Amino acid sequence: MPTSNKVRGALFSHLPELKNGTIIELGSGWGNLAFPLSKKYPHCKVIGYENSPVPFFFSAILNHRPNLKIIRRDFFKKSLVDATLVICYLFPMGMKRLKEKLEKELSSGTQVISLTHPISDWEPKEVINVDDFQKTTIYLYEI
Ligand SMILES: C[S@@+](CC[C@H](N)C(=O)[O-])C[C@H]1O[C@@H](n2cnc3c(N)ncnc32)[C@H](O)[C@@H]1O
Repeated sequence: MPTSNKVRGALFSHLPELKNGTIIELGSGWGNLAFPLSKKYPHCKVIGYENSPVPFFFSAILNHRPNLKIIRRDFFKKSLVDATLVICYLFPMGMKRLKEKLEKELSSGTQVISLTHPISDWEPKEVINVDDFQKTTIYLYEI
């Protein structure tokens, strides 16, 4: 389920200004967000973790930018301590475990954006309601 063009447009019009740092996408799929992120933030390092072989293979082959790395790995096994911005569009059942990981590893000021699924008990600094077919909601948080 890749992010649609409409949702991506809404997301990109609300992304924070970042001059440098590390952007981590959890579950980068076919690269629909990771590649445009690496273009928008040429001075940031963008890392996409994807554990599903076919989307990983195509996204890693097709998406070449000097600041982008697509890595085939379960993101739960990777540290997020260096992240300046974390972006995810995942599944409801993984969100509780992800929340625990984010709370343990992210430092103050790190931005977190979750598409569709909120992070329970976190107060978003902004909520975007996209007028797409699925009525997608985008949640923007800051630790
Ligand atoms: C809904 S898709 C979103 C894809 C992409 N982020 C986008 O917005 O187009 C979620 C992706 O997360 C990947 N994923 C789920 N759990 C993961 C994990 N623990 N580690 C790495 N990838 C994971 C899935 O394989 C899937 O490609």
